[in-house]
Amino acid sequence: MLTLEEVFPPFALRISCGPLELRVLRDEDLPELVELIRGGIQVPGLPMPFLNAWHEEPFAPGCPDGFPTTSLGWWWTQRATFAPDEWRLALTVRRDGDLVGMQDLHAKDFAQARHVMTGSWLGRAHQGMGTGTLMRQLVVGLAFDELDAGRCESGYIVGNHASSAVSRKVGYVDNGRRRIVQRTRQGKVGVDEQRVIVTPATFIRPDDQVSTEGAEVLRNFLGIHRAAADS
Ligand SMILES: CC(C)(COP(=O)(O)OP(=O)(O)OC[C@H]1O[C@@H](n2cnc3c(N)ncnc32)[C@H](O)[C@@H]1OP(=O)(O)O)[C@@H](O)C(=O)NCCC(=O)NCCS
Repeated sequence: MLTLEEVFPPFALRISCGPLELRVLRDEDLPELVELIRGGIQVPGLPMPFLNAWHEEPFAPGCPDGFPTTSLGWWWTQRATFAPDEWRLALTVRRDGDLVGMQDLHAKDFAQARHVMTGSWLGRAHQGMGTGTLMRQLVVGLAFDELDAGRCESGYIVGNHASSAVSRKVGYVDNGRRRIVQRTRQGKVGVDEQRVIVTPATFIRPDDQVSTEGAEVLRNFLGIHRAAADS
């Protein structure tokens, strides 16, 4: 009988460095994930960091239109729609074994574009300890070293100083501003987003050694052919 990792190869991915470990979200992570989100993500006074205020939905387990049901569709869609032309790795971030946040890495038409995008958050109790910087370094390293990406893009709402600092510390450079629309609990709001981009030339790696398992089966599943292997 096949293992779960053989049935769905992204589950085989495991990136670790120091106290952190990143893996694709599994159903057994959900109770801990829901509890983490209940503890809060956004720091009062700082900009709402997401396109949709999914983290502010009323807590109503078992109801169709409250949290966590409203987020289940999003998490499960990542797996259901995972394909070489468009994929999203929704990675749990564990620090010393505890679930502390999520780091995602997604791409569209990666074979042609070699371009990935990221998004991330940590529970409030876990912010400001260097975790946000290290988890971003780990997915950018995965993109460059294992998936042969040429650039990683991200963006943050102007005024999100923590996200701005993480981008700077990982080697991103500014890539223009644009006006975007956020869906808050109070309705649609227009805000300025700072776009940032990092390439292998500017990427600042973590100090500690990184260990990655499952990259080869992930590449096969995504149809990524390495230049060295082709020659
Ligand atoms: C953004 C986020 C992932 C950063 O992770 P983090 O673990 O808190 O960040 P780090 O501890 O790695 O800190 C990185 C830098 O940000 C700085 N920083 C952290 N919070 C800050 C704040 N509120 N104001 C200014 N700088 C801040 C730190 O001082 C550090 O810089 P330094 O090492 O030069 O001092 C995390 O704060 C978070 O989840 N915030 C809420 C959700 C969010 O904003 N997600 C990003 C969407 S774009």
